[in-house]
Amino acid sequence: MSFETLKPQVETIVANTQKSVNNRLLDICELLETNVDYYNWVGFYFRNGDKEELILGPYVGAPTDHNIIPFGKGICGQVAVSNENFVVPDVSAQDNYIACSITVKSEIVIPIFVNGKNVGQIDIDSNTPDPFTEADERFLEFVCAKVSKILS
Ligand code: SME
Repeated sequence: MSFETLKPQVETIVANTQKSVNNRLLDICELLETNVDYYNWVGFYFRNGDKEELILGPYVGAPTDHNIIPFGKGICGQVAVSNENFVVPDVSAQDNYIACSITVKSEIVIPIFVNGKNVGQIDIDSNTPDPFTEADERFLEFVCAKVSKILS
């Protein structure tokens, strides 16, 4: 399914105030994992209060041991510090990488900002090598901007 088709579906999920924020985030994970064939693990990490660490939020995909990730560690921890998108075409080429599953070949992490502050991120793992393009970045920035509106 194209990103342009998915965008209004993301908006519908976000606008569903009948559901808790976490259940809406889980719905977004399911929407993305189901409809983009190279999105194989989709999840959210958020800053854990005032601590310099991320805590795992809603996700779809294989269970991970990495519930807590210190700032600076792994791809996710680096994005918590850099405030920038991180696209990894080949995870085996990264020194500062936390492996969750041996099937994962690539990863993309896009930060979520609330009032200009980096509060978390969407993290996507792929079993396909080098699948992510600028279209993924623009789409996931759209998703993060919509998610930002229901966080606070
Ligand atoms: N690979 C990530 C860890 C999180 S898992 O992908 C779910 C990283 O290096 O930060």
